Amino acid sequence: MDFAMAPKAIFVLLIVFSTCTFPSFVSAAPKALLAPISFDPSSSLYSLTLGPSPPLLLDIASSNLWLDCLNPSFSSPSLEPPSFQPVRCNSAVCHSADVCNSLICGGRGCATCDAPASPVCFNNSCSTSISNSAIFTSTSGLVWTDKFSILTTDGRNTGPLVEVPKFAFVCGDDLLLRNNSVPSGVLGDAGLSRALLALPTQLAAKRSLKRIFTYCLPSNGNGKGILFFGASPIVFQPNNDFTNSLRYTPLLKDTKQPDSYFIGVKAIAVNEVTLSIDTNLLKIKNDGTGGSKGGTIISTTVRYTQLESSIYNALASDFKTAANARGIKSVTAISPFDTCFDASTASSTRVGYNVPTIDLLLQGSGGVVWSILGANSVVSLDDGKVICLAFQRTREFETRAIVMGTFQQQDALLQYDLATSRLGFVSTLLGRMATCSNFNFTSSS
Ligand SMILES: *[C@@H]1O[C@H](CO)[C@@H](O)[C@H](O)[C@H]1NC(C)=O
Ligand SMILES: *[C@@H]1O[C@H](CO)[C@@H](O)[C@H](O)[C@H]1NC(C)=O
Ligand SMILES: *[C@@H]1O[C@H](CO)[C@@H](O)[C@H](O)[C@H]1NC(C)=O
Repeated sequence: MDFAMAPKAIFVLLIVFSTCTFPSFVSAAPKALLAPISFDPSSSLYSLTLGPSPPLLLDIASSNLWLDCLNPSFSSPSLEPPSFQPVRCNSAVCHSADVCNSLICGGRGCATCDAPASPVCFNNSCSTSISNSAIFTSTSGLVWTDKFSILTTDGRNTGPLVEVPKFAFVCGDDLLLRNNSVPSGVLGDAGLSRALLALPTQLAAKRSLKRIFTYCLPSNGNGKGILFFGASPIVFQPNNDFTNSLRYTPLLKDTKQPDSYFIGVKAIAVNEVTLSIDTNLLKIKNDGTGGSKGGTIISTTVRYTQLESSIYNALASDFKTAANARGIKSVTAISPFDTCFDASTASSTRVGYNVPTIDLLLQGSGGVVWSILGANSVVSLDDGKVICLAFQRTREFETRAIVMGTFQQQDALLQYDLATSRLGFVSTLLGRMATCSNFNFTSSS
């Protein structure tokens, strides 16, 4: 490989910076790795950082980690061969590069390129699809391996950085980052799907971790949330290990879209009264044209949970009736919402406004309920004078009945166990005197 041919000097990302500014590496295998999560209020998107490298979009729907490898901010310090290496077309790594998510299924190939060699142009090199779920767009890029570093954690504090060797990721250009489609400073997309090259499976293999990841999304831009890879306690200040409080529901798989995570919502209730909806919509089924539809998919880029139109109508109507019945007055709606109330007529509690409870009744033994309280069900608008039901109808091209948005996940703890195929959750930490920003990021070393 002749990297002297590459433009803009060096494309290096994910580099291990000099050890004078970061803690030294640990040799014993840590149980968990940690990536801090930030919320960007202007885009309502979340980003994460892996060790000292630039932020990436938090994207549970994406099937790999990709970067804008031509961005000049990757030019220093330089990552050079031997650690930065192309992945050859017929290699085992390339065979792991298949992608099948809601945006694209397939796309792996072998690149040929007439332009000068670069991270996005390299003959006989493995190519695959990359996507940005925030703008529902995908393109293709070239697969490379490199080392990078990531924080360890004992579950209470941050520990030293460890190196992840030969991590496979994709180099693209900035096509999927244009038009302010991501928070400023974000230079790629961190895929957390079930795909083999997505972070959970690759990190588990490279660092001998359990195939588990857990995240807690902050509700504002002031503090950092957490993404853990591996199994460990998850202790928030002052001293709460929330892994003891998880409830579990199966993580479902759609064979037509195997990278994505689904859960089984069986019914929805408002103040314990079940909505009258067509529960057939809640099942994953064939769409008759070789694809699938229905069911409940989890998103980390959709802000407000989207419901198929008839389900949305039933929820909005019952929520309004129940809210009005307790003296919460309806007011003119504020777009894009259509069910809004005078905030001064609702009382405030630790878990948000005291509005009717929305329960998702989930698959799981004994009946598993995800209760959505005020902090996750109504959004405050017009300087706090108005609150609106924080759900929306699905977009026209959406085939799923429910897309779980991040407003409903903020200050909740969600643990994805890929080995046992189950989702552990605490639907809100607020009632337990914590928020997702309560992790103690002080280094213990
Ligand atoms: C790739 O191969 C083609 C055809 O052999 C050649 O014209 C081109 O210069 C090569 N590109 C690079 C970047 O090596
Ligand atoms: C960016 O905006 C331009 C002009 O509206 C549009 O043509 C292009 O598709 C957008 N790019 C992305 C990646 O969304
Ligand atoms: C955070 O962790 C550090 C290191 O263990 C500890 O000294 C400090 O007291 C902790 N801070 C809080 C607020 O618990």
